[in-house]
Amino acid sequence: MSFSPDDFRLRATDLDDQDTLFPFRERFHIPQHNGSDVAYFCGNSLGLQPKSTAYLFEQELRDWAKYGVEGHFQAESPWFSYHKQFAKPLGAIVGALPEEVVAMNTLTVNLQLLMMTFYRPTQDRFKILMEAGAFPSDQYAIETLVRLMGYEPENAIIEVAPRESESTLRTEDIIAQIEAAGSELSLILFGGVQYYTGQFFDLPALTQAAHKVGALAGFDLAHAVGNVPLQLHDWDVDFACWCSYKYLNSGPGGVGGAYIHERFANNEKMPRLAGWWGQRERDRFQMRKGFIPEPGAQGWQLSNAPVFNMVAHRASLDLFDKAGMNALRAKSLIMTAFLEEMLHAIPEKAFQILTPSDPQARGCQLSLLYAHSGKETFDRITDNGIIADWREPNVIRVAPVPMYNTFMDCVRLAEALNGSIA
Ligand SMILES: Cc1ncc(COP(=O)(O)O)c(C=O)c1O
Repeated sequence: MSFSPDDFRLRATDLDDQDTLFPFRERFHIPQHNGSDVAYFCGNSLGLQPKSTAYLFEQELRDWAKYGVEGHFQAESPWFSYHKQFAKPLGAIVGALPEEVVAMNTLTVNLQLLMMTFYRPTQDRFKILMEAGAFPSDQYAIETLVRLMGYEPENAIIEVAPRESESTLRTEDIIAQIEAAGSELSLILFGGVQYYTGQFFDLPALTQAAHKVGALAGFDLAHAVGNVPLQLHDWDVDFACWCSYKYLNSGPGGVGGAYIHERFANNEKMPRLAGWWGQRERDRFQMRKGFIPEPGAQGWQLSNAPVFNMVAHRASLDLFDKAGMNALRAKSLIMTAFLEEMLHAIPEKAFQILTPSDPQARGCQLSLLYAHSGKETFDRITDNGIIADWREPNVIRVAPVPMYNTFMDCVRLAEALNGSIA
């Protein structure tokens, strides 16, 4: 195989011409480099800004100026119920009933809150199974939680690692460890898409295996939400949480999200750490003693909606609603495969692709593991207007995002990695 930029450019032009999602790119601000659009491959870290965000932000500023506290009910999108508008579009993205999801807090806060509900260790059943090398926030959350509950991480946490000389996990190996932990296993807490390798785990199979031994299944969907198709309700997933600043384009530190299966969400006896915004809405302002949760995931809210932090979420979810996850995934599969083909065609490359080659076992991201000169390559492509991200010790992650990337962006990236001018 050889790298022929002209052929790839011709194919990219055709693919961009045929792309029915192409107009969505116009709805985003594309960062600039020397007066031209960068080729942005960092939606796995921070998604781009929808242009409508500024207008919606100004509207909230206007409503605040105009109404003061009355804006809670008088604003165009009343702040009292601002969070509620997200339940339906988020439900469509993660495959859940609207009442099973809520936009609130940030990812790690939601993870801690949900773990307080779902990790109820007993003397016999106290273990948590997770992937080795999980995102550090998850590692720290679980490590400190098990200590808080009176256990030692060495005894309570089981980490599943890839086989020697392999870089991703085999589903059968994860399931074997779930079965081995058996009646000692309290829950599994896995990423949906692994942040470093880009592997999309088989969430229904893991959930089923966990349930079979009487454990619960929860997922950190930071790299999965808005990236891969999810059917949390049908897969019988117990709980999940995510952030919105990656594929959901909702701005740095944007509001997080949580999913709780209805069998728990509507059970007012479920243990939780509560705040007034989770109190049953009809008597929330009675200021009475005694917590009675609002049914659904909303019953896990602590505080009133951070409206300014939710404005970009509104702008972005509107675009997801219009584009649809099915169309986004269909384009994503073609685009990542196109990029992968070009990367394979680069001769004498210093990298190998860590991400599974099976399209069903990955989202849009490809992780390039460098044997040498990875950081130099990363700096060189950045100087050429290509925004990717570097993960220590030796990985460049690139994510062609179907909502705003073009096939020609992918050619620019491949040419730059091939050593030609970007
Ligand atoms: C997989 C994963 N989990 C957790 C986090 C932490 O998110 P936050 O800082 O929003 O709590 C991140 C952040 O990138 C992440 O990628």
